[in-house]
Amino acid sequence: MVIFKKAEGLIRYLLKIKEKGGFVSFVPTMGALHTGHISLLNEANGEGVTSVVSIFVNPTQFNDKSDYEQYPITIDEDITELQENGCDVLFLPSVTEMYPDGDDATPSFDFGYLETILEGAHRPGHFKGVGQVVGRFLDIVQPDKMYIGQKDYQQCMVLTSLIKQKGLQDKVQVVICDTKRAADGLALSSRNKRLTDPQRNVAGTIYQCLVSIRSKAEDGNFKVVHKESVELLEAKGFVPDYVALADANTLELLDEYDSDRKMVALIAAKIGSIRLIDNMLLN
Ligand code: PAJ
Repeated sequence: MVIFKKAEGLIRYLLKIKEKGGFVSFVPTMGALHTGHISLLNEANGEGVTSVVSIFVNPTQFNDKSDYEQYPITIDEDITELQENGCDVLFLPSVTEMYPDGDDATPSFDFGYLETILEGAHRPGHFKGVGQVVGRFLDIVQPDKMYIGQKDYQQCMVLTSLIKQKGLQDKVQVVICDTKRAADGLALSSRNKRLTDPQRNVAGTIYQCLVSIRSKAEDGNFKVVHKESVELLEAKGFVPDYVALADANTLELLDEYDSDRKMVALIAAKIGSIRLIDNMLLN
């Protein structure tokens, strides 16, 4: 595995590969790698493909300063894990490397409706930051394919929009990968590392609620399931930000199940100071 800390070196290295007809796949991450991240790398690896993983805890996407400051960093373990899983290139830039002229001078994008609901509403500026950093990564890496996780459902929609806004839809294919879970259903997340044992013991409740919402999609009443889910989460010590039902293609919020549409259920809830999100397609 080759490690680059500077964009210029990485650009030159990848240019040589592309000139020889090589294919470049890209997995952006913020590190503290777990099996979910590695599953994206496994998908990205292949014959004649150079896989590039980035690790960068992007300050511009954290609306909560303490969340940024406490974001887990496990770089030595991450490097070992990437090497063992066949990563070809690790890009490990600094903040000044990513935002050489400051983040205000780095292009950002408008995601309209997506910035006003769910994660967009609860984390003002978050998607602007995600779009900004991935926009810059795309300029540097210029991949053929980018691998992202359904775990961050709304982020997948934002990044698909980013690719269109940058006019890259014919150049960069977005591959959305399944959510990897622990045995109790908890979606793997770097933030799980911060859970205490008692918090970890109840964290699977989010998954249980999603399964319950899905199981009642055929003949249930969403308002009732919504109330039950909020009550269950609260009983386990969570403070839910939202338990939502939406059109899976547009993320239009729905008050009730609508079997004519493809639907997704989405939950965000805090336990202590740790905020967890998850989602599930219903039909
Ligand atoms: P991060 O949270 O590190 O996630 C990196 C990628 O891993 C994202 O595409 C995310 O959806 C995916 N992922 C996370 N948990 C997963 C799981 N349990 N199963 C499968 N995939 C999972 O998302 C970000 O970083 C950042 O916002 C980023 C896109 C890197 C921009 O800074």
